[in-house]
Amino acid sequence: MPWDELKPRKFVAFEKDLDGISKQTMEDHYKLYEGYAKKANECRRRLNEFDYADIEGNQVFSELRAVSVDYTFALLGYKNHDLYFGHLGGDGGDPEGRFAEIVDQEFNGVDKWSNAVKKAASAARGWVMVGYDLNDGSLFNYIMDTQNLWAVYNMVPVLAIDVYEHAYVRDFGATPDGRKQYVEAFFRNLDWDHVNRQLRQAEAAKEGADRTGLQEEHTVGA
Ligand SMILES: [Fe+2]
Repeated sequence: MPWDELKPRKFVAFEKDLDGISKQTMEDHYKLYEGYAKKANECRRRLNEFDYADIEGNQVFSELRAVSVDYTFALLGYKNHDLYFGHLGGDGGDPEGRFAEIVDQEFNGVDKWSNAVKKAASAARGWVMVGYDLNDGSLFNYIMDTQNLWAVYNMVPVLAIDVYEHAYVRDFGATPDGRKQYVEAFFRNLDWDHVNRQLRQAEAAKEGADRTGLQEEHTVGA
């Protein structure tokens, strides 16, 4: 399927009063998301239009390099916020469903996962992603210092905490304690059904890939 322009989506979270995260913070935050969509489209368009027979490919500085790198910043800025806004607007509470089942095994207790992800949110400079690994089926907390740094291949984000200051400074202040209060508020507004839907899709993708792999082995062996 050829590339198509990204379009900012509408989210349920913007029709509700969140607990602790103000409407003004959300509205300002949405403008950043719109900006990421616009710039991702602009970079991708330029990457499609370059004359690759003539363009300079220089690792120190070149237009191709600059646009390629900034494209990942813009694109992941769009994708990360898509998940972040998508799973706000819920009732919070303890992890539920399949997500709770997996982290219970992975972290030897849901409470231990909860402590781990909150500490990760204090240690990250940009994002914490709870991601499902398509290779081994595990869930793990990944720290990202910017939206395009430290992403791991075949990891599908199912829960995304934005810990950039723009997500909380208006409501909680720019201190480490303010960030902790914001992370608590984030979890009070999290929609676990949305998280579990993301997880179901990731598990289905792994099952499909595993089945295809088995079929190929069978065909090769036959
Ligand atoms: Fe953000």
